[in-house]
Amino acid sequence: MVLDFTVLLDTGSTDLWVNSKGLELMLTNTTDLPMTESYGRGEVHGTLQFAELRVGEYVVPSQAFVNATQVLDFGVAVDGIMGMAFDVSFIFAGISTAWGRESASILGRSFITNLFAQNSSLPNNFDVSLGREDAVEDGSGTFVISNHAPSFVDVTEAPKIPRIGTDRWTFAVDGMRVNGESVPFNKSSVAGAPDGKLVALLDTGFSFPPLPRAAVDAIYNTIPGSVFSVSDNAYYVPCNSTTMLSFFLGGQEYPVHPLDLTFPFTGTVPNKNGVQTNVTLCLGTYQPITLDPTAFAGFDLALGDAFLRNVYASFDYGDLNPWTDTQGTPFVQMVPTTDSRTAVAEFFDERGATLAGLPPAIDPTEYFRLWAAASSSSTSSDSESEDIAVSGALSTDDDTGNSSSGWDKTFRTAVVALLGANLAIGLVLLGVTVTMCVRAKKERNVGSRYVPVRFKDAEATGHDAEYGTPRYGSD
Ligand SMILES: *[C@@H]1O[C@H](CO)[C@@H](O)[C@H](O)[C@H]1NC(C)=O
Ligand SMILES: *[C@@H]1O[C@H](CO)[C@@H](O)[C@H](O)[C@H]1NC(C)=O
Ligand SMILES: *[C@@H]1O[C@H](CO)[C@@H](O)[C@H](O)[C@H]1NC(C)=O
Ligand SMILES: *[C@@H]1O[C@H](CO)[C@@H](O)[C@H](O)[C@H]1NC(C)=O
Ligand SMILES: *[C@@H]1O[C@H](CO)[C@@H](O)[C@H](O)[C@H]1NC(C)=O
Ligand SMILES: *[C@@H]1O[C@H](CO)[C@@H](O)[C@H](O)[C@H]1NC(C)=O
Repeated sequence: MVLDFTVLLDTGSTDLWVNSKGLELMLTNTTDLPMTESYGRGEVHGTLQFAELRVGEYVVPSQAFVNATQVLDFGVAVDGIMGMAFDVSFIFAGISTAWGRESASILGRSFITNLFAQNSSLPNNFDVSLGREDAVEDGSGTFVISNHAPSFVDVTEAPKIPRIGTDRWTFAVDGMRVNGESVPFNKSSVAGAPDGKLVALLDTGFSFPPLPRAAVDAIYNTIPGSVFSVSDNAYYVPCNSTTMLSFFLGGQEYPVHPLDLTFPFTGTVPNKNGVQTNVTLCLGTYQPITLDPTAFAGFDLALGDAFLRNVYASFDYGDLNPWTDTQGTPFVQMVPTTDSRTAVAEFFDERGATLAGLPPAIDPTEYFRLWAAASSSSTSSDSESEDIAVSGALSTDDDTGNSSSGWDKTFRTAVVALLGANLAIGLVLLGVTVTMCVRAKKERNVGSRYVPVRFKDAEATGHDAEYGTPRYGSD
């Protein structure tokens, strides 16, 4: 019998790991090689194992994966991640070190590389389109292998944007426009990047796209009432305000829906009796990049979910097949799915409906003023924390030195917790069900030898017979 896992689809990493929750998987090979998978946020420890893996109709008879024994710091519950990037990964490196590169190139391939390697007549592409929580459309995401969704067959006519570099799904961004104005770019940090362009990682694993600070300022400074919080490294934006952002790649404009520029969440403000009142705030989803450039080299920005929800993207390996020494440049083709002519009206409708179901929205300036007033009155006898000040919160420049004395503790914790929840929303939009065989628990002896197990999230998935490849609903 088989076991379904709902894993996150991550175009920014390569390996597969699952938390088997103590169930004994039916393995095709086993090792005691320890593996550590680390991400921009979160880390997984476990051992390298092999099992039959199914994704929709596709089967890889013996797929390397990490049986996770420790899952740390994701901030949300994650039961597994399936990477869709290239074979330069922790598993590949681990096998190379233990048994040599040749073994790694046979045993250490990712799911998608194995799939394409075992059947050379399969087209070498996978397509992704993410759903949106605040659904303007139907809110569900799509993942298609070796085919295109019927309503996006014209993706093959979209500009072919060649990969830059060798390790990741990274592409040149020609430009960025905010309310019709071009935003200038500095020189790319990536050697070999085309003049005047920046290199972007297309990564479903980032809910909130990290961009150079100047680009983030250029977006949110066009929205009156926005406030940059140094402590949170993000803008707070009036919930009912917006701007028009678009990116240019391969000479094509990709507008970003205003719904993707800000993210509503519930916070609290103090009132006169020291009781806290619930309010709704909106966080800017495009945030200044803080990734360690030595660990995350090869790109200047990451276009995560707040961008990817605006495209139907077909990732194509081209003729690249390192295992048969075939050279070729992988590329991406993207069809814009946001119509900038209707997006603003949609924003007011959708956001209005969302806000109607939430505590009253508060302007960021007012929010920070209330907290500043509360902390200065409640701590007036305590000179040490007198400057709790919202210096960090209110500062609209990048003088981080000011904010070191920090924020009111409760407030900060609340915000951090909420950011965790936000992350979940970004991440669960494209859960994909993968299936492996599982052995029956010993104490179960009736009926079949194997027990099927369903995880909670798996219920949200379904199959779309129309194109024979799975289509997955959002959470
Ligand atoms: C099983 O793993 C061992 C390394 O532990 C490797 O030498 C062997 O080739 C693998 N067998 C198969 C069938 O993959
Ligand atoms: C995976 O690790 C767990 C411990 O967390 C262990 O109980 C289980 O047997 C392991 N499964 C496999 C397939 O190695
Ligand atoms: C390989 O892929 C082609 C095209 O999808 C399919 O018709 C064929 O059945 C596949 N072969 C195997 C052995 O799976
Ligand atoms: C260019 O780099 C300088 C120095 O790091 C920085 O101050 C400025 O904001 C950057 N401008 C843009 C448009 O990225
Ligand atoms: C504020 O929200 C929390 C949960 O988000 C809820 O438990 C609490 O009752 C709310 N408070 C008020 C005054 O509505
Ligand atoms: C937008 O929301 C603020 C509160 O955050 C409110 O004061 C203002 O009137 C609203 N503006 C519009 C145009 O709805």
